[in-house]
Order: sequence, then C-alpha cells, then structure tokens
Amino acid sequence: MSEDIKNKVEAHFSRSAALYRTSAVHAKGEDLPLLPQAAALQGDEHVLDAGCGAGHAALAVAPHCARVVACDLSAAMLAQVRKLAQERSLENITTQEADVEQLPFADETFDVVLSRLSGHHWPRPKAALDEFARVLKAGGRAVLVDNVAPDDDPATDTFWQMMEYLRDTSHVRAHSVAQWRAMFEAAGFTVEVRHRWEKRLAFQSWVERIGTPHFHQAMIKTLLDEASQAVHEWLQIDEQYNFTLHAALFVGVKAS
Ligand SMILES: C[S@@+](CC[C@H](N)C(=O)[O-])C[C@H]1O[C@@H](n2cnc3c(N)ncnc32)[C@H](O)[C@@H]1O
Repeated sequence: MSEDIKNKVEAHFSRSAALYRTSAVHAKGEDLPLLPQAAALQGDEHVLDAGCGAGHAALAVAPHCARVVACDLSAAMLAQVRKLAQERSLENITTQEADVEQLPFADETFDVVLSRLSGHHWPRPKAALDEFARVLKAGGRAVLVDNVAPDDDPATDTFWQMMEYLRDTSHVRAHSVAQWRAMFEAAGFTVEVRHRWEKRLAFQSWVERIGTPHFHQAMIKTLLDEASQAVHEWLQIDEQYNFTLHAALFVGVKAS
C-alpha cells in the first residue's frame, strides 16, 4: 500500500515538476521568509529539505546557512531544484533522491530538517518524524509547513480530504494541527505552532498543476456545489470554485 502511494507521488510530481518550479502558490507564500528564523539559522548549519519539490524552502534558507541537502522521491523535481539554485547562484545546495520515511543519512547529520507542503503525501507521517529526529543533532529543529484540516469538524475534514484525493490520488491526508502536534510529541520533539495563515487558491490552476483528470475535476465541482454551510465557511468557495486553504508552520525541537 505504502509503495503504491509512493509510486503515484513519484509519477504525479515528476510529470508536473516544471509547473511546481513556477507555481506562485509554491514559489511564494508568507511562510518562506519565516523559515530562517523558525530554523534559528546563524550561518553555519547543515540543513535538510525533506520532500523538497522544486526546492522553494531550500532556496529560502540557503543564503542563511552553510549547506542544504534537498531530497525528494522525484528525480525530475531535483532537476528543478538544481536549475533554480544555478539561476540564483546558490552553490551550497545539493540534491539527493530519498524517501522521507527512510532517509539515507547517518544519525545526527543535520542541525535542521525542513519540510514544506509534503507531509500530506506521507503514508506513515510518524515514521518520517522519527527519521527527522534520528538525523537531527541534539537540540536540532524540525520545521514543518503543511495545509491543515479543521481540528473539531470531522464532516468538513472528510469533505476536504475527498476534494484533495480527487484532485491528486497520491494525497494521503491533510492532518489537523492537533494531529501534527501529537505526532511530533510521539517522535520526541517539543513542538510549537509558530504561524497559521490562509491561502487563496484558484481552482483551475490548482487542478491543472497536478494534471487532475477532467472527470475528477467535474466530481470536485459537484462536491463543491453540494457543500454544507460549515464547508463554505472553512473553504470560502466562490462562483468560480476558487477557495481558501489553511496552513500551519510547526517548529519541533529535539531534546539536547
Ligand atoms: C507539493 S510538492 C512540493 C513541495 C515543496 N517542498 C515546496 O515547498 O514547493 C510535494 C513534494 O513532496 C514529495 N514527496 C511526497 N512524498 C515523499 C516521500 N515519501 N519522500 C520524499 N519526497 C516526497 C513529492 O515528490 C513532491 O515533490
């Protein structure tokens, strides 16, 4: 099961890699300028960007640390990272194919592990957080950004997961803030939510970016046509099916 999902992740993101390099939703975002401070970077740290995609988090921190390893399941995504790093003359970013749930790095290699907008694809998110704890030095930080589900509204949560799954069947689950907190703590981190914000998404570019089949697009629109009042309040759906996503930035600190 887990391998099926990872094969889909690799296939879906590889065919869309170039679009993720230019996507404003990924290349911009109010979280990116917050990353160096959330990671407590002083200039000499070794950083891992886990599930790096086109590398927007790696690029945001590279000027503030010694080196960044950007890893992803998709080799096509890693090619986009190298292209952007070269365009910006950032020479301290290297790339490596890797699964976040089975990282090919020795214990205590990194000062910081970042992961942005990837966690909702992981079949075993706790296993990934265990790996982050293993490869971090004592006192190191795991900084995770992801879209989040509501904590106290199971119906809206289910609706949102269905929408995301129809859009991209490599989606596993957008966890709630409480669920991420619990997983961080179970992996041995002290965790805080550093920032929460909303992002407006344009329906058409949201589905085109990942190549959602037309019949799935139609199913999502049918779902949205039938959305409850609570879903409307959470997603703020408009006439063009544009909607709002909710995101959170977590900082986990490994014990010293
Ligand atoms: C939305 S994309 C890009 C996110 C990127 N970090 C950014 O900020 O733009 C999610 C990425 O997570 C990667 N991914 C998903 N599951 C993964 C796993 N188990 N191991 C490594 N990478 C994974 C995908 O290949 C994809 O490139």
